[in-house]
Amino acid sequence: MSKKKHVVLITVVVLVIAVLGGILYYKDQESRSVPEFVLTYAENQAEDYPTTLAAQRFAEMVYEQTDGKVEIRIRPNSILGDEYSVIEQIRFGGIDFCRASLSTLAEVVPKLNVLQLPYLYEDSEHMWEVLDGEIGAELLEEFDGSGMVALSWYDAGARSFYTSQQPIRKPEDLKGLRIRVPESELMADLLRAMGAEPVVLAFDEVYSSLVTGTIDGAENNWPSYESLHHNEVAPYFTVDEHMRVPECQVVSQQTWDKLPEEYQQIIRECARESAEYERSLWKEQEEYAHAAVLESGTKEIILTEKEKKAFEEAAQPIYEKYASEYMDLVEGIRALRKDS
Ligand code: GCU
Repeated sequence: MSKKKHVVLITVVVLVIAVLGGILYYKDQESRSVPEFVLTYAENQAEDYPTTLAAQRFAEMVYEQTDGKVEIRIRPNSILGDEYSVIEQIRFGGIDFCRASLSTLAEVVPKLNVLQLPYLYEDSEHMWEVLDGEIGAELLEEFDGSGMVALSWYDAGARSFYTSQQPIRKPEDLKGLRIRVPESELMADLLRAMGAEPVVLAFDEVYSSLVTGTIDGAENNWPSYESLHHNEVAPYFTVDEHMRVPECQVVSQQTWDKLPEEYQQIIRECARESAEYERSLWKEQEEYAHAAVLESGTKEIILTEKEKKAFEEAAQPIYEKYASEYMDLVEGIRALRKDS
């Protein structure tokens, strides 16, 4: 073959390879950019809150691992509604995913109340020992038949009381005060047991209700208190840590049933990984929020062991009403305490 023919042949081969490569690349991009499922995920916290950041990570992992076939769009700041109505929509297939507090989920799956009994856990490690173990797995299965599939546990620290006008040191200080509670019968009963008047309000209504004086206080963890600026209007924070309320990532059963098994497995695995990420973010955020609110004037009321005990005793009626059927579970949880 002449030198000229040789050059022409090589050029043709190179061109063919380039064109074929281009077509394949284009096809790949095209198939990646058309998701088979576009799903919504409701979150009632802000964009930079640990649970939202972990949800974002979850969505990215699912997108990557399904080659762009499952796209999950995170909708933060309660834009899809308050937690209770989001859960209702999940159950009836209007919203695909959400992250919700166990206190609201327990309204639909009552056995979950066991996991948020007041003064149940010794500390955060004890709670994780329970949730990561057999009891946690068993309670995730309790969602069967609820219209929801539970995917993972997220951290939400411990909840304590905060008030606008006066510090709380003992349960009697709560007497007659109007304290906001989420949509949770157990929490409302807890406040009644302490002599307060529970006021059920959605999370995003708490700030304005504190400003107008419709309520005298609320209760939550440090990151929520800081993130929604409750510290500006309720500067007395009593570290009574009456409850540890974990949270759950859930998916609508209707959505779940439409997904091929391969995607279900990816979603489960990514939810589990995102939960580990959330836990590490949570620890950082708890420290940050605590320091930030103290810096901006919050008066932290630290209780002695004896003072804490008084809150614990006042909370006992909750065990009779919510735990008597599940005492074996409560005992199983208590057995995992380091001091047991
Ligand atoms: C926590 C939790 C929210 C919940 C809120 C509440 O902040 O993360 O999901 O809605 O408590 O008290 O309503």
